[in-house]
Amino acid sequence: MVIGSSVFIGKWTKEAQEFIEASSPDLAGRRVALFVSCSDVLFPEKVDAGRKMYLEDVAAKVPGLDPVALGMFGGVIDFDRYSTLTRVLLAGVGTKKALKERGIETSRPYDYRNWEEIRTWARNL
Ligand SMILES: Cc1cc2nc3c(=O)[nH]c(=O)nc-3n(C[C@H](O)[C@H](O)[C@H](O)COP(=O)(O)O)c2cc1C
Repeated sequence: MVIGSSVFIGKWTKEAQEFIEASSPDLAGRRVALFVSCSDVLFPEKVDAGRKMYLEDVAAKVPGLDPVALGMFGGVIDFDRYSTLTRVLLAGVGTKKALKERGIETSRPYDYRNWEEIRTWARNL
């Protein structure tokens, strides 16, 4: 089974959290792979902490779960799509500023998925 989520303010989405919690009794001893899509992959200094927080810590909360793979991938950020509240939250975590500092245009959707990496991970499963 493959379970994953995008990351919002350090956490899986509510739906994905609820899903993994509800499935928890069935996951022990099964072959489960976890993945996230998140912007921390863009910042090498954040990758290790992100992997721990978004994947290893999430897995550790499920009794008996020993994931066969952990995937940390990029995603899409579309600043125009977000509500005012979300934009304020994003400003809080400094995402837009950090992207701008890297010369990334934030006035249009920024798609930073690496499909080759995603396909390779999926094939290896
Ligand atoms: C409000 C908000 C908060 C986010 N917080 C984080 C975060 O804490 N860590 C991270 O690595 N990525 C964060 N991201 C980036 C998203 O996880 C990433 O862009 C993801 O691909 C979005 O998935 P979606 O297209 O399904 O919405 C955040 C994005 C938004 C809009």
